Amino acid sequence: MKIYNNMSMSKIHKILFVCLGNICRSPAAQGVFQSIVDRNGRADDFMVDSAGTYSGHRGQLPDRRMRSAASHRGYDLTHRARPVSVTDFLEFDLIIAMDDSNFTDLMHLSPSVESSRKIKRMADYFTGQSMTYVPDPYYMGHEGFELVLDLLENACGNLYDSLAAGK
Ligand code: 4NP
Repeated sequence: MKIYNNMSMSKIHKILFVCLGNICRSPAAQGVFQSIVDRNGRADDFMVDSAGTYSGHRGQLPDRRMRSAASHRGYDLTHRARPVSVTDFLEFDLIIAMDDSNFTDLMHLSPSVESSRKIKRMADYFTGQSMTYVPDPYYMGHEGFELVLDLLENACGNLYDSLAAGK
């Protein structure tokens, strides 16, 4: 079933970003992508959320180090961590894993072959990067959080462009 925006009758894109804890990479991806959407005046055409494959941080704000690094780039991260649920595979059109481990976990959680096709890797949207995944910054220093934001800004920009162009 396609959900349409009443104003433009264009399809609403529903995107879920997923990492392990949902306190570093995926809420940052959500914030970066939402900011691109808002900057382009397309808030009515996108629904953006994030979740984790591990539920241990449920209800928490993003990690203080990630909030701080993101805030310096103009992103206010206010998401509360939550685990991925089976209904996410029905609700969202695109489910984007930050690394290969998240991808494999999502494939195991997916309730159907059809919903498995919604699962992508963030690195699928990288351009000009030597990295092939978004690394977990949890045990890294400040530079790890900056690297994650650099990769997310690159991938989110490309993802937005491809969806906005209708590809
Ligand atoms: P994230 O980072 O998956 O990018 O949110 C992590 C946060 C917490 C843990 C692991 C990764 N942890 O094990 O608590």
